[in-house]
Amino acid sequence: PSFSNDIEAILALKRERNAVILAHNYQTPEIFHCVADIVGDSLALVRKAMSTEAEVIVLAGVHFMAETAKLLNPQKTVLIPDLRAGCSLADSITAEDIRMLRQRYPGVPVVTYVNTSADVKGESDICCTSGNAKAVVESLGVPKVIMLPDEYLAQNIAAQTKVQITAWKGHCEVHKRFTPADIRQLREGHPGVMVLAHPECPPEMVAEADFSGSTAAMSDYVERQKPPRVVLMTECSMSDNVALQHPEIEFIRPCNLCPHMKRITLANIRSALEQNRHEVTIEPDIAGRARLAVERMLAI
Ligand code: 13P
Ligand code: SF4
Repeated sequence: PSFSNDIEAILALKRERNAVILAHNYQTPEIFHCVADIVGDSLALVRKAMSTEAEVIVLAGVHFMAETAKLLNPQKTVLIPDLRAGCSLADSITAEDIRMLRQRYPGVPVVTYVNTSADVKGESDICCTSGNAKAVVESLGVPKVIMLPDEYLAQNIAAQTKVQITAWKGHCEVHKRFTPADIRQLREGHPGVMVLAHPECPPEMVAEADFSGSTAAMSDYVERQKPPRVVLMTECSMSDNVALQHPEIEFIRPCNLCPHMKRITLANIRSALEQNRHEVTIEPDIAGRARLAVERMLAI
């Protein structure tokens, strides 16, 4: 009953405030299926944030996603329901670290994962997401790039391209915990299971999966291939959301929770709209430079 009160209140507040809710694939089903207007992977959220007519954007996801929505919509109010919704990747690198890398590798372009602060994006040549990282790296037409901050994403992309990639030592605290032994155990216990892994997982683990891609790519794979038995090696809510759309498919559910994504709840989405909090702001100088890096990515 408390869910339905919050859901009704949120739907009314969205109309009153001319607001949209953008929700990442890792949000819980009651957010993802009941109140979100736009759902998707990081890339889809960036693209769709640009085309909304609404005056207020509530980002049901983590802080870097809200910052990116604000970068692309400087005139709009962008709200994040809990300021503590961070990301271990975003925390792994600073703008100063990039300046240091540029000194160490002069002339080598810096490709920065969107899972970073606006400050870090502002020091970068171009952004990428897990959905377009290979295309972004290859679009630059250079033999070498620096790709940061996710070491495993960089290594997984390096395995698919001739471009030489220098990585940073950041990791996603959720995906780094999956191991090849997890996959072997799953295959033993669930014969025929199709294993889909996010590219933030360690490369030796991705090498044993049947498919690797962003959250949207995993969801599309299930949609297209309709494997009878599948496991999504990623954050827990992802399987919950996809499984609700595919009752005919057996989802095996070992997963890891992202504590940052889980800070967002129906209750704090409601408070965000009622109390206009927490408004995301970015210093104009940083925003100008960071926006360029995101726009270069979107132009590909
Ligand atoms: P994607 O949805 O772009 O695959 O990103 C996964 C992730 O960990 C976001 O925080
Ligand atoms: Fe960051 Fe990993 Fe959580 Fe995504 S799942 S927000 S990459 S810690």
